[in-house]
Amino acid sequence: MLTGKKVILGISGGIAAYKAAYLIRLFRKAGAEVKVVGTANAFEFITRVTLESLTEHKVYHQVFGDQNDYTTEHVSLTDWGDVFVVAPATANIIGKLANGISDDALSTSLLAFDGQVFMAPAMNCKMYAHAAVQQNLDKLVKQGVQIIEPAEGFLACGYEGKGRMEEPETIFSTVEAHLKHPELPLRGKNILVTAGPTREAIDPVRYLGNHSSGKMGYALADELAARGAEVHLVSGPTHLQPKLSKINLVRVTTAEEMLNACMKYYQVCDAAIMAAAVSDYRPAKIHPQKIKKDSPESSLRMELQPTTDILARLGKKKKQQLLVGFALETDQEEAHAIKKLKEKNLNFIVLNSLKDKGAGFAHDTNKITIIDNKQEISRYPLKSKQEAAVDIVNMVEKHLC
Ligand code: CTP
Repeated sequence: MLTGKKVILGISGGIAAYKAAYLIRLFRKAGAEVKVVGTANAFEFITRVTLESLTEHKVYHQVFGDQNDYTTEHVSLTDWGDVFVVAPATANIIGKLANGISDDALSTSLLAFDGQVFMAPAMNCKMYAHAAVQQNLDKLVKQGVQIIEPAEGFLACGYEGKGRMEEPETIFSTVEAHLKHPELPLRGKNILVTAGPTREAIDPVRYLGNHSSGKMGYALADELAARGAEVHLVSGPTHLQPKLSKINLVRVTTAEEMLNACMKYYQVCDAAIMAAAVSDYRPAKIHPQKIKKDSPESSLRMELQPTTDILARLGKKKKQQLLVGFALETDQEEAHAIKKLKEKNLNFIVLNSLKDKGAGFAHDTNKITIIDNKQEISRYPLKSKQEAAVDIVNMVEKHLC
């Protein structure tokens, strides 16, 4: 929650301004207060009435407006805000802030603000790629502005390319992460996370898999990145997207591909958290064609061979890394988890029992127990997977920092 946090939303004149309404809703739902300051062109795309209704605050749009509370509203407004988010940010406002120009309500307010500024550029892809815009963005980064890079896709001008404003959810999550963890305790730490199931092909149509949704691993990646870590998220097939665009998402399908991706990043990592439900076996033979039900193989007895235990392999190669595993059990839970902790050379293991209601696969909740290598046991109540991720990352942070 962002209760008590104050967000200044700057809107400049681009078609993506219509998404500002949704961005305001996300901040307000999270408990933050929002005040809007816009350029004259912004209100060609979204009305002040819409913005004032959503924020329950007057929109600031003229330096010398007769409805301003003060003649120095650009200073009183910016003193009020904890954070300043410009979305959409046109080439024009980017150029103005980069070069210290203040000739309207938004550019003047930006110069008067001494907290963290975020800019979410939105423009035609050729404009975005222009050397002048890129130089201005570099200048802004040097000034400490955080740029929320535009996505690739269809642009309102008919072009396809990089320039579409990042989605409001991603802008919100980026700003939320800053407001929750301004000190970025995990900055400079590289952390590997695995998530989701793996799939082992039987034939071109069928596979061996499991019920893992990936939610726990993605929640961990989001929480780690929010605290400033460089996160490499190696994910089996899921429909999920990380909340923060800075997460390095590596999509894989099989246990073998997951192993290879993990080995690539593990060397340089400070920690690895293995939340994936990796298939323990794969078919010894992948049929090149679909197995027909009336074929000789139809009375199928499938020969299986073991996959590599990725976590155990990482445990053997462990140097500086903090290594965290998961254990999903159905009986003698703590005994099994302690056995895995020892055999795989872990620093700690996160246990969930399928016996606990609301824990394990596909749920939005989880009930975890963390056991460390001194066999100290911390038991947690049923929580959302996001809250469980906070508990696990707190433990990681305690060990790493
Ligand atoms: N794991 C892994 N590679 C595998 C199997 C498991 O990296 N091939 C990791 C999981 O990501 C998890 C931990 O090992 O962090 C424990 O996984 P789990 O499925 O609970 O146990 P297994 O070791 O596979 O043992 P069992 O299936 O007998 O319970």
